[in-house]
Amino acid sequence: MTREWWRDAVVYQIYPRSFQDSNGDGIGDLEGIIRRLDYLNDGTETSLGVDAIWLSPTFPSPMKDFGYDVSDYNGVHPDFGTMETMDRLIAECHARGIKLLLDWVPNHTSDRHPWFIESASSLENPKRDWYFWRSAKPDGGLPNNWRSVFGGPAWTLSEETGQFYLHSFLKEQPDLNWRNPEVERAMHDVLRFWFERGIDGFRIDVMGMILKHPDLADNPVNPRWRPGDRERSSQIWLNNRNYPDVFGAVKRIRRVFDEYPAKTAVGEVFGTAEEISAYYGDDREPGLHLAFNFQFIHEIEPWHTPWDAEIMKRIVRDAERAIPAGSQPCFAFGNHDRMRFITRHNEDGRGVERARAAAIVLMGLRNTPFVYYGEEIGMEDVEIPEEQLQDPARLRTFGRDPERTPMQWDATPSRGFSEAEPWLPYGRADRNVDEQFADDGSLLSLYRAAIWLRKRTASLREGAYRELESLDGTWLFERGATGAAAAAYVALNTTGHAVRVAVPSPGTVALATLRSEEGRRVGQHIDLEPLGAAMVIADGERSILGR
Ligand code: GLC
Ligand code: CA
Repeated sequence: MTREWWRDAVVYQIYPRSFQDSNGDGIGDLEGIIRRLDYLNDGTETSLGVDAIWLSPTFPSPMKDFGYDVSDYNGVHPDFGTMETMDRLIAECHARGIKLLLDWVPNHTSDRHPWFIESASSLENPKRDWYFWRSAKPDGGLPNNWRSVFGGPAWTLSEETGQFYLHSFLKEQPDLNWRNPEVERAMHDVLRFWFERGIDGFRIDVMGMILKHPDLADNPVNPRWRPGDRERSSQIWLNNRNYPDVFGAVKRIRRVFDEYPAKTAVGEVFGTAEEISAYYGDDREPGLHLAFNFQFIHEIEPWHTPWDAEIMKRIVRDAERAIPAGSQPCFAFGNHDRMRFITRHNEDGRGVERARAAAIVLMGLRNTPFVYYGEEIGMEDVEIPEEQLQDPARLRTFGRDPERTPMQWDATPSRGFSEAEPWLPYGRADRNVDEQFADDGSLLSLYRAAIWLRKRTASLREGAYRELESLDGTWLFERGATGAAAAAYVALNTTGHAVRVAVPSPGTVALATLRSEEGRRVGQHIDLEPLGAAMVIADGERSILGR
């Protein structure tokens, strides 16, 4: 059996509105992405070297949730281009050996999708049951106590029929009823439509919510909730998230992927390591190829996971223990829903140093790494004046504009992004591709080196993960074939002072936050700078370094 491509891939997430504008309207588009593909991978080590791209939604949409409210699953939003541009993007990616993943949004449509318009039109409409329609309770109360992820009740009254419909997100995003076989079939057909066009797979939005309690039973109250906590955490999302019936639906989705060769499913899921692992299915009935583990970003909402070796070790230990044999984790340090890494870890102004270490950890772990655009150049959240904010979620919970600002290609006033006023303002000019590209000391160079090292080091891609003893505040893990000596190891220091860590075997530093350390011989220990990290290739594997 040939090895599946996603096992070895580094995936780069593009937020299409913000990558590259090609037609001067201030909004990024598919043509712009085509122009920037060589930056991502031109086959040489001067490019970043990513193997796959995931595009946040590109479909026709009223853009209430910037594309996560889809009004036609089989098209391209005119802001982004046409079907012809998409076909060209697919071809241009494939010409460079880059796989292309789109974002499938199965939990809900836009309220402007023809299915919902029909469904809302009358009690007898044949599509009535494609969504969730309920009357008020006899006492006039809402059909159940569920809250929307963005805050407020998950139910909105529709004047046309006097019934409420369910929306787990904005009221413009009504939830589809996946218990109706016609819905399931129609959504499966969306996958087939894109597979036929050459798309290599999908990131699947809100995977864990598509099947809910059959009677939409109330969620239990969260006894740990305190006033001031996020409203949605006032209840335990027992009956609408990770509900057991969802796993059957996931396995049926997988079968659609398996109708085509080499298509890959990556699910957005939330929960404990056990809950995440359940999405992988089992040997008999596989589920997703990959299920995101976001625990480096947050474990319990809304708190951020601190940059702390002890916590990170536990996260990976739990993930490795829970995941089914033959599956591999999928970690990310950022995405379009969360504060940027540096902003999240910048309490003491040392976020950039931590970002350098994060690049080494992410590429050193056993996983399929996902990198959010701009993280490789250290983009930070941008403070945006109230009148320029765009994300409607901000009105109810937290806005996500600051982490979605345009990619910074150079230091010019337009950042190389657009000739027009950009849809969101730019960040600080000194974080850009142009200046970091040829600078060996830059974050971009470190990312690039880490990605290419991983590409040519089989043990980093395939080896088992083993945690080793190390001092508090440090994390030492090795990678290598099961039962064999380590081929590579990574040491991380999350403390503010220099440390010396005993290592399992001699080798050569292949990658370090302090780049001048690279090439240094390591005997019995390695010295790490404050907040530093290093990756060592053990002596037996030295051939890898001969380039
Ligand atoms: C996912 C997306 C987020 C979106 C939501 C509703 O969490 O990542 O951006 O708002 O789903 O589709
Ligand atoms: Ca444009």
